[in-house]
Amino acid sequence: METPQNMISSSPGRIYLRPMILSDVDDYMVWATDSKVARFCTWEPCTSRDEAIKYITDKVLTHPWLRAICLEDDRPIGYILIMPVDDIRKEIGYVLARKYWGKGFATEAVRLVTAEIFKEMPEIERLEALVDVENVGSQRVLEKVGFTREGLMRKFICIKGSVRDTVMFSFLPSDILK
Ligand SMILES: CC(C)(COP(=O)(O)OP(=O)(O)OC[C@H]1O[C@@H](n2cnc3c(N)ncnc32)[C@H](O)[C@@H]1OP(=O)(O)O)[C@@H](O)C(=O)NCCC(=O)NCCS
Repeated sequence: METPQNMISSSPGRIYLRPMILSDVDDYMVWATDSKVARFCTWEPCTSRDEAIKYITDKVLTHPWLRAICLEDDRPIGYILIMPVDDIRKEIGYVLARKYWGKGFATEAVRLVTAEIFKEMPEIERLEALVDVENVGSQRVLEKVGFTREGLMRKFICIKGSVRDTVMFSFLPSDILK
C-alpha cells in the first residue's frame, strides 16, 4: 500500500508518524500534563484542556515539521519534531507518554525520522539533538540510532529554574543509521 504524503511508517508497522490535528487534544494531554514527562524539557506541564487546544492551534499546527507518533489505532502516544536552527542545521526533539516508555518506540521514531529527513530536506548538513546530562533514556535512544555524542556543554540551558549541563549529539547525512 502506498504511504500517503506526510506519513512515515515503520516496518513491520509498529508505529507510524502523521501530522497532528486538533482532535488529538485528549491524547496530547496525556503526556503534556505529566510533570515527569516534562522534567528535562523547557515547557511547563499543561494544566487545562483549553490551554492544550491553544497550544496545538498556535504551536503544533503551525510548526514547520512535527509528527504525531501513532500506534495502529491512529491514537498519538507522543510526537517528534524537527526544529530549524539555520539553513544547514536542524534539531530533533521527541516526547512520549509515560505509559509507552521503555518499549523501543522513541528509538523507532528517531530512526524513521533520521532516515527520512535528509531526503525531504537535502539542504541539511547536520541533525542535532541536545539532551540533559541526566536524561539517560534520551541519550541511549540517540546512541542506538547512530548519533555521535560530541560532548558536554556546561551550564548550557536553564530548565525550570535550574541551570543544566547538556550533551550535544549529531547525525550527518554520511553517518550510518543503526
Ligand atoms: C526519552 C524518551 C523519549 C525515551 O523513550 P523510550 O521509548 O522509553 O525509549 P526506548 O524504549 O526506545 O529506549 C531506548 C533505550 O533507552 C533505554 N532507556 C529508556 N529510558 C531509560 C531510562 N530512564 N534510564 C535508562 N535507560 C533508559 C532503554 O532501555 C533502551 O536501551 P536498551 O535497548 O539498550 O535497553 C522518553 O523517556 C520520554 O518521552 N521522556 C520525556 C521527554 C524527553 O525527555 N524527551 C527527550 C528530550 S531530549
